[in-house]
Parts: sequence; structure tokens; C-alpha cells
Amino acid sequence: MILVTGATGNVGRHVAVGLAEAGAAVRTSSRRGGDVPADLTDPGSLGPALDGVDTVFLVWPGPAVPGIEDAVGAITERVRKVVYLSAASAEHGFWGTVEKAVEHSGVDRVFLRPGGFATNTLGWAGMVRDEGVVRWPYGEAARSLIHERDIADVAVRALLGDELDGTRPHLTGPANLTQAEQVRLIGEAIGRDVRWVELSPEEAREQLLAEWGDETFVDAALSHWASLVGMGEPVTDDVTRIIGRPARPFRDWCRDHAADFL
Ligand SMILES: NC(=O)c1ccc[n+]([C@@H]2O[C@H](COP(=O)([O-])OP(=O)(O)OC[C@H]3O[C@@H](n4cnc5c(N)ncnc54)[C@H](OP(=O)(O)O)[C@@H]3O)[C@@H](O)[C@H]2O)c1
Repeated sequence: MILVTGATGNVGRHVAVGLAEAGAAVRTSSRRGGDVPADLTDPGSLGPALDGVDTVFLVWPGPAVPGIEDAVGAITERVRKVVYLSAASAEHGFWGTVEKAVEHSGVDRVFLRPGGFATNTLGWAGMVRDEGVVRWPYGEAARSLIHERDIADVAVRALLGDELDGTRPHLTGPANLTQAEQVRLIGEAIGRDVRWVELSPEEAREQLLAEWGDETFVDAALSHWASLVGMGEPVTDDVTRIIGRPARPFRDWCRDHAADFL
């Protein structure tokens, strides 16, 4: 039995479908949904979800969610293997804390390390829908955003076989696209002209602080985007190597999500 946590989220929902299509025994979980709801911040609640489970797809919900060691401890004392949805920047954040906790437990493990998700651009959907514009900073910052279904396809491979055990694949989209190009492709997918309106870093800081609240997170995002102007993010072939076909282009992601912007 494979337990998929974060099963109502961007990646987990596709992992659950992929496993079921492959004929695996799957149990899904999140706080409010899935076959057996459980809260990762309340390790006691994980018991029923872990009953008879051999392998876990683990999603840690975010930086502000406490209790990593306790939850990972409760999971790893019951299972043989964990496939963790980490991040390319694992060295710097809570993802590293989760990785260390899983590693110290000694279970078999795979740490999937994706770069930025294409789903992050859904944060623009309100502006696209209401005004046909995206007001954002660093239009020339280039990113290799990855389709959530590619992460899920790799996760399914990691969960069903052992050839990825002990590895940390760095998963990216197939190419870098500037943020302004991303907006143009979203417009193409929905059949509308969507304009990029460049915000200065100062204007953006104010807007993002109102939206996201967390000053450290906002400043880290701004300096990361600034560093991507003219440089772009790494593009790896780990998706191709693992699942035997290239990662889906951002244009395909836009087509799959056109309804989210209308
Ligand atoms: N966005 C990016 O660019 C990016 C890049 C690299 C890595 N990541 C990492 O990817 C992960 C997010 O993946 P995602 O986008 O697929 O998830 P998501 O869409 O944000 O969904 C989060 C999932 O976790 C569940 N959840 C939230 N709090 C929970 C709790 N306390 N206990 C149990 N379940 C809980 C949610 O369901 P309920 O609300 O029902 O509980 C939902 O199923 C994060 O760790 C993020 O840091 C993101």
C-alpha cells in the first residue's frame, strides 16, 4: 500500500491518479480530503492513514508548518520507503530539514528536487481575468518552470521501483522562458492579449507584502528574480532520463490550465 500525502494538492492529486492507473494499491490523505484524512502537524492523527502502508509520498505543506521531526519520525517508524517532494533549493529551507529527518531515519528514500512550479503563475490569474494585464517585476527574469504532472510522473516511477532510491533528481521544465514570455503564452492559450506591465522592485515589494505578508519571503523572491535576468535557471534532463520523454513545455501547461485564467 502506498500513502499519498498532499493528495488534494497540485502534485499529489496526479501522483494518486498515476499510481491507480498503474494498478498500485493507493491511499490518499490530506487534512480535509482523501481516503483517510490526517494532519501532519498532529502525528497521532497519522496512525490510521499509515496502517498497512509500505511506502509514502510525502508533501510538507510549507515553511510555516511546524513539527517536521515529529511527523517524519511517526512516518518513518512505520514504513520502508519515503519519496519526498523537496525542492531544488533544499539546502536553504525547510525542505533540507525534512530531507535530513528522513535520511537519519535510515529508510529507503528519494528526494525529488523540482525548481519552480508552473502552477505559481496561477497567482496572476486574477489580474489576467479582470484586466488582461500582469503587473509584476523582472519581466526578463527567465525560469524553467515545470508542469506538476511531470513531477508526478517521476514520483510514480520513484514510488513503484527502486532504481531511484538514494537519489535527488533535479527536475525542471524543458527550457527557460522569461516571465513576459510566460504571460504571452498564457494569453495565447486563452485567446486574449495579455499585457505585461513592468513594476519596479519597490512597487513590487509593496504589492507582494500586501499579498504574501512575509517580508523575508518577499525579499528572497525579489532577489531570486533579479538574479535570473539575463541568466535564467538551470535546465536539466532528469525528467527525460527518468521517464523516457522530455518534460512538458510551458505552452502545454497553459493549454491544460486555460480555464483557470478565464
Ligand atoms: N511552488 C513551487 O514553485 C515549488 C517548488 C519546489 C518545491 N515546492 C514544494 O512543493 C510542496 C507543495 O506541493 P503542491 O503544490 O503539490 O501542494 P499544494 O497544492 O500547495 O497543496 C498542499 C497539500 O497539502 C495538504 N496539507 C496542507 N496542510 C496540511 C497539514 N497540516 N497536514 C496534512 N496535509 C496538509 C493540502 O490539503 P489540505 O488543505 O486538505 O490539508 C494539500 O493537499 C511544498 O513543500 C513546496 O515547498 C514548491
